[in-house]
Formats: sequence, C-alpha cells, structure tokens
Amino acid sequence: MGHNHLETQPIAGALGAEVHGVNLADDLDAATFNAVHQALLDHGVIFFRDQNITPAQQLALAKRWGGVHLHPYIPSLPDHPGVFEIVKDVDDRHTLGGMWHTDQMFTPTPVRATMLYAKVVPQAGGDTMFANMYLAYDALSDGMKDMLGGLRTVNQYNKKKQRAAAMQVSAPEEEAITAEHPLIRTHTETGRPALYISYDGITRRFAGMTDEESRPLLDYLMEHATRPEFTCRFRWEEGSLALWDNRCVLHMALNDYHGHRRVMHRITIEGEATH
Ligand code: SIN
Repeated sequence: MGHNHLETQPIAGALGAEVHGVNLADDLDAATFNAVHQALLDHGVIFFRDQNITPAQQLALAKRWGGVHLHPYIPSLPDHPGVFEIVKDVDDRHTLGGMWHTDQMFTPTPVRATMLYAKVVPQAGGDTMFANMYLAYDALSDGMKDMLGGLRTVNQYNKKKQRAAAMQVSAPEEEAITAEHPLIRTHTETGRPALYISYDGITRRFAGMTDEESRPLLDYLMEHATRPEFTCRFRWEEGSLALWDNRCVLHMALNDYHGHRRVMHRITIEGEATH
C-alpha cells in the first residue's frame, strides 16, 4: 500500500505493519495523516523506525487523534501532561504491562489508542507482542458467537498488583475503578466485531455471574485470543514508535531482559463508551 512517499510493510500475517517514509517530528499534512490513520485501521498496530521526537512533538502528534488521556494513577512527565515514562531499570524485576491486556479497560471510556516511543532499549529482549481481536472473534464457532453476544464483562484495576508493577503509582489503597463492557465490541470506525477482554487481573467476571462461574470461560477466551497465529511481535530499536488501536488489539510487554535498562514514553488517546 502506498500514499505518495508513505509505504506500509506488514510484519506478520495477523496484524502489524511498519510504516516507512514519514518523519513524525514534522507537522503531518492532512493527506499523510489520513494515510497513517488508515494504516492503523487496516493493520491494528503500526510501527515507525528511526524517529527523533521530543515529548512535546509526541504530544502534538497524539493530539491529531483526539484528546490526550491522563492516567488515573501514573504521573506524567513534569512539563508534559499526558506523557508518562515506563522505566525498567537494571535492578527491577517487574515490567508495566507484562500480561495480555487492552489499555484502561477498567474505565467506562477506555483509551482508544496508545503511542509508545522507545528511548532506551536492551540489546536483546523487551519486545512487545500484539494480538488481533477481530481474528479471534472471527475464528469462534457460530454457536459460541451466539452465546457470547449478550455477555458483558466486569473489569477492575487491581491496585496491589498493578501498583507494584507500575512503580511510580500513588493510588490510595481503598480506591478502585470498575467498568462493564460488552464482551464483543463493535469498532466504531470499521464496524467490525472484536473480542474485548484482558487478563484476569483486569477482566474479573461476567456481569451477573460470580468469579467462579465466569473464570473457566474467560480463561478459554484469553487462551483463544492469544493463539500465536493471531499475534505479531515487535523488536524495538531506539527511536522506534508504535501506535496501536486498543479497540481491536491486545498487547503484552515481554519481561525477558533482567539486568538491562528500558525506557519508553507512552501517551494514550481518549476513547469513547463501548457498544
Ligand atoms: C504497555 O502495556 O503499555 C507497555 C508496553 C511495553 O512497554 O512494551
């Protein structure tokens, strides 16, 4: 696919494409922005290499997609509200986002897209994996699709686990954020149905059912959703930037580089109510 100077190159059969020929430090003209936006809709997650952008430029780029979301618990960089640093240092064992999830599913209006920019990466390891939830839905049997159609999930921010993993978080212990969403989410721009689910620390149960009743089916669906043929894996370099669509894509940061440092700048774009 090409748009003037812009080219996309898929990195896997399921989802994900590298976009070449765009300098994200520039103020993208309307045609280039529209082509990048279309690439995001077509591929679910897109990647840019060799970018050199400041937090202010990353914010300006993110605002082309909508309002910038402020994380309820994780503080922003001091002069750049909406940009937060994900750091795993040489002594850290945890990584933020180390389980399959879609961002901020525990809020009523989960973020639409996430933009992650690599500042420091280990020589090996620290890749991010993505999974295509349109494919996961499409692969279910008709009987299963019918059964899942009316279900809603209850999603919660698991404060203890998440706080430990997210390092700088300062949420009061008693505070909890919970949101219900349809298990099958219709994407507002493509109109396609997608499985909408996260790991068990976030997606706790089906609405109207107990945890015990819900867990076997949720476990099956997570295993199904992350089948290798629905995924891609991105190898970061310094200056790489990924942009993914949380309405139809799951992601997971691989925690396989202990003793090395990784620093990313993350921005999320405000989303809408699910249906
Ligand atoms: C995240 O879940 O947003 C973090 C992904 C990563 O650091 O690779």
